[in-house]
Amino acid sequence: MKIKDLIDEGNKVLHKDQTKLVLGTILNLNPLELNFHLEDIVTANLENKFKRCLENIKNGKPIQYALNNVNFYGLDFYVDERVLIPRFETEELVYNTSNYIRKYFDKNAKVLDLCCGSGSIGLTLKHLNNNLEVVLSDLSPYALEVCDINRNNLKLDVKIVESDLFFNIDSKFDIIISNPPYIASSDIVDEVVKNNEPHMALYGGEDGLEFYERIILQCEKYLNDKYLIAFEIGESQKDKVLALINKYLKNIKVITKSDMAGRDRMVFIFKNIDISE
Ligand SMILES: C[S@@+](CC[C@H](N)C(=O)[O-])C[C@H]1O[C@@H](n2cnc3c(N)ncnc32)[C@H](O)[C@@H]1O
Repeated sequence: MKIKDLIDEGNKVLHKDQTKLVLGTILNLNPLELNFHLEDIVTANLENKFKRCLENIKNGKPIQYALNNVNFYGLDFYVDERVLIPRFETEELVYNTSNYIRKYFDKNAKVLDLCCGSGSIGLTLKHLNNNLEVVLSDLSPYALEVCDINRNNLKLDVKIVESDLFFNIDSKFDIIISNPPYIASSDIVDEVVKNNEPHMALYGGEDGLEFYERIILQCEKYLNDKYLIAFEIGESQKDKVLALINKYLKNIKVITKSDMAGRDRMVFIFKNIDISE
């Protein structure tokens, strides 16, 4: 079939922009380039792949899983049902953390990405600064298989550790960054998310704060004297996370940031750093 016919097929199921995103990803063309190839014939293999994707999306699968691809911070990450789909707001966590690392730490600082899932956070930080020593860890061996695929695809020299939070972590870091599971068990979750993404990646106990509390309680054993902790948080969790920080950590400075949509989504904890913002 020709590209223009496949676009017509896709538009019966998807929004026009989504059709171009899906077809473009499969054909390795950006949406604009597709317009210059409308008369090109697509191989049977790729045509079938596109049709299978359409079918999966029609049946409720998120586009990113159907494509096994998500663009995060300009990098292509492989994703499937073993991992959470990396979100836009997490790019902002990476952006801010990367700036703080550049400003306050040595080039070869040690970073731990706790609850790494697909590896989007830790691998992107390593991509942005190849001198960093980065360890990524997660409890799910399935998620770590995906993280390993991404490490290989992106050709990044990082260490991956299977661990229940700090349990198998045996060294000290300058920076801990984490987007842990933070949905409260009583929260109403979007059906597409609930039906497709790993529940282990979503739920953070009764109030959604379990992981923050566990991390804050244990972290100093795994951090150098001068440190940064960077958390992504749920949009209504700022005050509760700040209360936990103030309860357990002493002599620290905290900065919170909202995402581009104006929601409180990031908390940065600094120790022995003279921050100027
Ligand atoms: C919200 S997802 C974040 C994934 C990734 N960091 C991202 O931002 O896309 C949380 C991750 O925490 C992992 N996880 C859940 N319980 C854990 C535990 N006890 N120790 C370590 N990781 C855990 C899940 O497997 C999941 O990959």
